[in-house]
Amino acid sequence: MTSRLSIGALAALWLLTATGMSTVARAADEEKPYVVKDGKVDQHAYNGWRRYTESCLRCHGPDGSGSSYAPALTESLKGLTEDQFKDVVINGRKNVTTSAENVMPAFGEVEDVVSYLDDMYAYLKARSDGVVGRGRPERFEQK
Ligand code: HEC
Repeated sequence: MTSRLSIGALAALWLLTATGMSTVARAADEEKPYVVKDGKVDQHAYNGWRRYTESCLRCHGPDGSGSSYAPALTESLKGLTEDQFKDVVINGRKNVTTSAENVMPAFGEVEDVVSYLDDMYAYLKARSDGVVGRGRPERFEQK
């Protein structure tokens, strides 16, 4: 009985710690990977749009809005972390849950993609957060 109680106490302690940690993670997440001023984006997010358009649009649709073949990344990024995003892009993924074989290619060897993962994430996150509209984004002046 006593030992069960202490296991319960341990579990509660673990839960508290885990909750505390996820709060920290969430606070860190709130630091945006992009800067948007008056609807205009910074150079990184702009580059991200260009790279996305080059390498991802043909499956994921214009501006990350999805197609019949691949999911809308504007929606995906509401759930995926930056690390999860990069992991899927680098390693690819194959949908095994449906009868359709929808394949996300691995881009780990594609320099034009791997070198700009941060930029693409910035752009798609801004789209996902609803602060950048569709189409070619405008850039604000940067010194
Ligand atoms: C040949 C088509 C194709 C191309 C090109 C492609 N993708 Fe995908 N992608 C897919 C498919 C299909 C899925 C869904 C796979 C699954 O369901 O497991 C996917 C899934 C993803 C996911 C996970 C989405 C989620 O909701 O979990 C991310 C992130 C992603 N792609 C990013 C990219 C990026 C960034 C690029 C460009 C560098 C890109 N994809 C290019 C077909 C593609």
